[in-house]
Amino acid sequence: MKKNWSKNSWRNYNISQQPYYDDINGLKNIESKIGKLPPLIFAGEVRSLKEKLKKVALGEAFLLQGGDCAESFSDFSANNLRDSFKVILQMSAVLTYASSLPVVKIGRMAGQFAKPRSDDFEEKNGVKLPSYRGDIINDINFNENSRKPDPQRMLDAYSQSAYALNLIRAFASGGFADLEKVHNWNLDFVKKSTKNKYLDLANSITDAINFMNACGFNKKNIPEFKQVDFYTSHEALLLNYEESLTREDSIKGGWYDCSAHMLWIGERTRKLDEAHIEFMRGIENPIGVKIGPKVEEDYLIKLLEVLNPTNELGKITLITRMGSENIYSKLPLLIKKVRENKKNVIWSCDPMHANTYKSSTGFKTRSFDKILNEIEAFFKVHYEENSFPGGIHLELTGLDVTECIGGSQKIKEENLSDRYHTHCDPRLNASQGLDLAFKLSDFLKLKRG
Ligand code: PEP
Ligand code: CO
Repeated sequence: MKKNWSKNSWRNYNISQQPYYDDINGLKNIESKIGKLPPLIFAGEVRSLKEKLKKVALGEAFLLQGGDCAESFSDFSANNLRDSFKVILQMSAVLTYASSLPVVKIGRMAGQFAKPRSDDFEEKNGVKLPSYRGDIINDINFNENSRKPDPQRMLDAYSQSAYALNLIRAFASGGFADLEKVHNWNLDFVKKSTKNKYLDLANSITDAINFMNACGFNKKNIPEFKQVDFYTSHEALLLNYEESLTREDSIKGGWYDCSAHMLWIGERTRKLDEAHIEFMRGIENPIGVKIGPKVEEDYLIKLLEVLNPTNELGKITLITRMGSENIYSKLPLLIKKVRENKKNVIWSCDPMHANTYKSSTGFKTRSFDKILNEIEAFFKVHYEENSFPGGIHLELTGLDVTECIGGSQKIKEENLSDRYHTHCDPRLNASQGLDLAFKLSDFLKLKRG
């Protein structure tokens, strides 16, 4: 076991962004119930993800992580899950071709329920109530009862995660992820769009698939043609829940947070002397850390020493979320510092969280162009620094929502109210996600060319 660590040692530290439960006995009761339930994922799967992430760290694979900002109980359905899974597969097919690299696929799914908030309270028409903190904690409806943190919700989140994982595993290996089928969905998308460049790329993929078929490589003899490895992740924010699902591996030892394959620490909860870092330093799962524009270089090195003292390759993914303006000035310094200190990290780009603004029509939104600008800047800076831009981290859904403006559907501020369904931040819809994958392929080719 890591020095002076146990799965509940975080309880001795200051903790940010937590709900206040007044029913302490109810809370303890739920924690102990979850503690006895089966793990949602297995240590062996985490180890296989870590092998793949090692490849990303070495520049031999690319990471695509995406899904809802906040999953919800009310929007959960097989069709919604299928559509989000589907768009990630479609994007992944385009990115695999463009980068000539395997794409490691991780959903913000099957457990992404707890949200950090900028304000503890929300005020509407003179009424002030605790903020909504995600369905695992309280209810989004604006009334006193709904906003009260309820420990029972942890059990509901566990159940929904189990249902979701069950379906994800079936989709991943039961024929849904067949590469030719995924490519045909992409051809349908391209035919509807008017972009000739997309068509050229899609036709090249068709040629590549036909060529492989002609050589005898197809789904009959290569499992990768009809199934995928798909992993889950969420922000490890509600530590009562994470601790309850943390188990010692009976085969190889070591403690695994079995609520998801990968966990990340948010921008607001990564203080070195606080509970989230204490909890995360003890688990064997791969860990993401969100890094905003105000991060200090020396802090970053200390953080890596605490979370990854053995400098294990692929263990830490630094998910930068700087904003399209800040990234040029800040990211090169961080890359240099990490390199000088010989720290192994994966660099991933979250182009969502520093590009949020309020539209003139009152909706929290993001612009597709700004998102793309941040990704472009991320790639440019990495190539200039001779560093590998390892992945992207997106908030997206397979549904045809109108939450972000732009993309080839040309969504405008006045369209946002049409289908604005998110429980938290605005997500790219399926079409915007695919637009992004096709556009991203230019940056990936930049390196190859
Ligand atoms: C998120 O990923 O939904 C989030 C809250 O991110 P950050 O911690 O980077 O603000
Ligand atoms: Co978000």
